[in-house]
Amino acid sequence: MGRGSGFGKAILFNEHFVVHGVPGIVSAIDSAADAEAKKGGKGITVEDERTGAEGYAEKKRLQQKESIEKMLKAMNIDSQKVSLRIWLGGNLPGFSGIGASAASSVAIARAVSEELGMGLSDEKINEAAYEAEKAYAGNPSGIDNTAATYGGLIWFKKNLSGGVNTIERLSIRKPVETVIGNTGIVANTKAMVSGVAERRQKYSQKYGELFRQAEDLAFKARKALEAFDLKQVGKLMNENHRLLQEIGVSCKELDYLVDLAREQGAFGAKLTGGGGGGCMVALTPGKDLQEAVASAMENEGFEVLRTKIGIQKG
Ligand code: PMV
Repeated sequence: MGRGSGFGKAILFNEHFVVHGVPGIVSAIDSAADAEAKKGGKGITVEDERTGAEGYAEKKRLQQKESIEKMLKAMNIDSQKVSLRIWLGGNLPGFSGIGASAASSVAIARAVSEELGMGLSDEKINEAAYEAEKAYAGNPSGIDNTAATYGGLIWFKKNLSGGVNTIERLSIRKPVETVIGNTGIVANTKAMVSGVAERRQKYSQKYGELFRQAEDLAFKARKALEAFDLKQVGKLMNENHRLLQEIGVSCKELDYLVDLAREQGAFGAKLTGGGGGGCMVALTPGKDLQEAVASAMENEGFEVLRTKIGIQKG
């Protein structure tokens, strides 16, 4: 039996912008997807035991099948010739926006690599998971699979000419409590990503300005994180949410949770991941603030994850 894990993640700055070569900042969170793979059975079968948003596994089942096929191909495995039983679990809920798909791809790639005695490096696992992500995201930046593979806090810039992406590990003084709030809406990342690309072409002047602001914000955010200036990090998260609203990837439920978190004293809050539903993230340093924000959301009937960003792993 082969085993593997992949970290969940929260994009702290610049989801969507990152697809077009703007730097983004992502942090692994304290939850992971786990996979086991065993030779045998008929074809490739997946038993998905992850908990989370209602209907997640069902809606994403077809994308999951396609993603595993793409992944095996990238690993030079002929999916017609191999029989594998794959089991998926772990403590990362299947919320959309916290990298559940990338985390599961990394976990599966590691489990399959171990079961078939391939001993793939992290770099190769990351590449295979990137191919798998294409089934979910269409034209993914690679930020999700990178965070899922390496963990920690990462500065990511996609190389738009197909060369090597910039992946730099950032360090912050200590991990910081955060709350991830789930709108309960299963978002279609692929549609959200292509929607941004279409609007960017159509409104090139407006989008050009927004993309410049996002780029500037990434550098400020990096500086604030490295200086551990959490008030400034929160302010920049709020600013980033505004830019994400302007490119049309927020929705009223996300805005509601973002406002609720700020009212409860969160240093900053924004949507995280593909938007259009899915999750938001609030920066809530200290257990008390984290609890106040998390319970306010739970009282309104939303599912939350109390977690930390900036946990250095690997
Ligand atoms: O919704 P998620 O967790 O798959 O995050 C998607 C992040 C995007 O920036 C919207 C797409 C990407 O590939 O970077």
